[in-house]
Amino acid sequence: MAGKEETETGARAEAGTASGAPPTLGVGMVGYAFMGAAHSQGWRTAGRVFDLPARPVLAAVCGRDRTAVRAAADQHGWAAAETDWRALIARDDVQIVDICTPGDSHAEIAVAALEAGKHVLCEKPLANSVAEAETMTAAAARARARGQVAMVGFNYRRVPAMMYARRLIAEGRLGALRHVRVTYLQDWLVDPEFPLTWRLQRQHAGSGALGDLGAHIVDLAQFLAGEPLVGVSALTETFVRSRPLPAGATAGLSGAGGAEAGRGEVTVDDAALFTGRLASGALASFEATRTAAGRKNALRVELNGERGSLAFDLERLNELSFHDHTEPAVTAGFRRILVTEPGHPYLEGWWPPGHALGYEHTFVHQARDLVHAIATGTDPQPSFADGLQVQRVLAAVEESAEKNAVYTPVPL
Ligand SMILES: NC(=O)c1ccc[n+]([C@@H]2O[C@H](COP(=O)([O-])OP(=O)(O)OC[C@H]3O[C@@H](n4cnc5c(N)ncnc54)[C@H](O)[C@@H]3O)[C@@H](O)[C@H]2O)c1
Repeated sequence: MAGKEETETGARAEAGTASGAPPTLGVGMVGYAFMGAAHSQGWRTAGRVFDLPARPVLAAVCGRDRTAVRAAADQHGWAAAETDWRALIARDDVQIVDICTPGDSHAEIAVAALEAGKHVLCEKPLANSVAEAETMTAAAARARARGQVAMVGFNYRRVPAMMYARRLIAEGRLGALRHVRVTYLQDWLVDPEFPLTWRLQRQHAGSGALGDLGAHIVDLAQFLAGEPLVGVSALTETFVRSRPLPAGATAGLSGAGGAEAGRGEVTVDDAALFTGRLASGALASFEATRTAAGRKNALRVELNGERGSLAFDLERLNELSFHDHTEPAVTAGFRRILVTEPGHPYLEGWWPPGHALGYEHTFVHQARDLVHAIATGTDPQPSFADGLQVQRVLAAVEESAEKNAVYTPVPL
């Protein structure tokens, strides 16, 4: 593929000097740690792999520590570094604001960026509460009328196998859906001495495994099914209720005053388990946990319909299992589709069949899709309205769990 890259780079460089060069879109990213690194890769790569109508430019990255953000800019390829997100939004060379910070800052940054005339990509969950998500969605709707777009970073939709599964379901290959079964299991909180980082504090993260992992699988289930959840019944649990304060932590951390010395109170769930009903009457089940020993990033999906079934495992993300129940029973069965053909979603830009993709490619696809939405003036998926709907499901899950699993409708 080196040859292909050289040819494409050369052709593009040539085009760049001609009058027909694609316009550029300056990106300003807030936060540069885990998601910041992943998004940087997406922005750097999208225009080199896909034929885009506009070329993303990594204009500026923002963090709070001047030395650290400058180092991150150099590492990830950003031209400039800012220490105040307001200054980043105000830059003339920034047209897209990409929010990769914890949930407690999403609403303030997104609304300010939209009001300043910028397009916005915001990491999931959209916000820490339904009220914040409503404010953000209203700001996005006002901005839409001015030609701006706003998208949420539910990147698992952009695994080619997931996008292809959606296509098969939309084509009716499963018939009427009966079951959607989704689990998302991690194990980094098994250790009771894991420190009390922002993800374990409600005021920063909104919720625990629910907002972190549950948000992904709620979005994925609704995206694949093509319909919303209308009600849920849930249990949540916090197994380890106090944890060591991280190095450098100061007083004022949630619950720290009432807890043992050097430890703080965990104010979010470790795990969330819930069932749900989809609008069509299909039944769904969900499990989101960060305490499943041995499970690292195990996102598994299975859908069963009257004509067939689909199954997927993120740890084998190039594969989709499909059972066609209309075939003769003697030969029918789950078959493995290797989702690496040029005709599969997103594969036109990548490698020959069988040359597998990975986690980071979802962020390249995310950048590609947002650039297309901006260039064509279409609504990006998932929109802030989609993010708000997920937030309503998360709130219904918490309400149900507080009432010991009482079935709780999700407001439309
Ligand atoms: N799509 C996914 O698969 C996925 C995976 C992990 C996290 N996330 C989401 O991404 C977001 C960030 O998570 P992360 O794992 O990257 O967290 P992280 O702790 O690794 O990084 C957070 C970054 O935000 C910066 N930051 C915090 N407050 C800031 C402020 N006021 N101004 C400027 N910078 C600030 C921090 O310095 C850091 O660089 C969260 O919403 C999280 O839920 C999404």
